[in-house]
Amino acid sequence: MSLVEIKDLNKTYGSKQAVHRLSFGIREGSCVALLGPNGAGKTTTLQMLAGLLAPTSGSIRFNGLPAQADLRRYIGYLPQQGAYYNWMSGSEFMHYSGQLAGLSKKEAVQRTNDLLDRVGLQEARKRKIGGYSGGMKQRLGLAQALIHQPKLVILDEPVSALDPVGRREVLELLKEIRKEATILFSTHVLHDAEAVSDDVLMIRDGELVLSGTLRDIRNAHRQPVIYIEEDVPQALQTWAIEWERLAHVTELSYQDGIVKLVVEQPDEVKQQLLQQIAQHRIPIRRFELAQTTLEDLFLKVVSS
Ligand SMILES: Nc1ncnc2c1ncn2[C@@H]1O[C@H](COP(=O)(O)OP(=O)(O)OP(=O)(O)O)[C@@H](O)[C@H]1O
Ligand SMILES: [Mg+2]
Repeated sequence: MSLVEIKDLNKTYGSKQAVHRLSFGIREGSCVALLGPNGAGKTTTLQMLAGLLAPTSGSIRFNGLPAQADLRRYIGYLPQQGAYYNWMSGSEFMHYSGQLAGLSKKEAVQRTNDLLDRVGLQEARKRKIGGYSGGMKQRLGLAQALIHQPKLVILDEPVSALDPVGRREVLELLKEIRKEATILFSTHVLHDAEAVSDDVLMIRDGELVLSGTLRDIRNAHRQPVIYIEEDVPQALQTWAIEWERLAHVTELSYQDGIVKLVVEQPDEVKQQLLQQIAQHRIPIRRFELAQTTLEDLFLKVVSS
């Protein structure tokens, strides 16, 4: 069942159409990655969902709630560029956020305690935020977004600014949070989406270009691919031109000494290639049959 339904959402800034006829649903309990390159319209979309930006047209409906309902009670939000009061301590910031979200002081203290524990900031709770690392600030931001037990947690690029360690910490936390809330997070890194999400929405120039479960998308778009790596510089350059003309080869690229062929009949193409390689003693160090990855698809979708 959908927790949220978005229909024909549009946002224009002057003559710029930042979001164009966007429609999608978010399943209750799912973790959804909103993927897209810089400027695709991710932040604009999330801000509209979070009630921080008015759509130019279109509707956002929360299951079971009237169209005019104030959705902010049900939504937790972590902005792309979090702004913190550096002079506050972690727990002061949490108490403050809790009270802004409508909790009583007692509830805010209780939730702060639970959440700082969960995000691993209990020890640092009395320290000033100004002295927190980027990863700590981001974990505090996550805790803040959860303070009022929202049904939907919206996170705008929660890991983009982090180093590999911070990134892994936050992705691990997302796996925990998803047990109790529906998550929608944006990223321009496919790898992050693959690590934690069930569903993906890919947008480009404000439009939805691909959506579905990771598994379905992977299955539907997977194609056989052959990689051949040269053993001597430029050894495959002219062969690449030759091989592009072979039957059943739908795509060919030659980069960093590796020829990548996307093919339709892998066995047939493989036979032909191996024959030529043997016959002409073409110096290769690797011949591999594989499948295109989601990364290949993502790059194709965002760059086309
Ligand atoms: N306040 C604004 N005024 C005018 N144009 C804007 C405004 N905010 C965003 N835009 C434009 O709308 C488009 C979408 O921007 P948005 O910030 O939503 O993209 P994004 O996918 O979040 O990008 P990024 O990955 O860089 O965060 C961009 O072309 C941007 O320049
Ligand atoms: Mg953004």
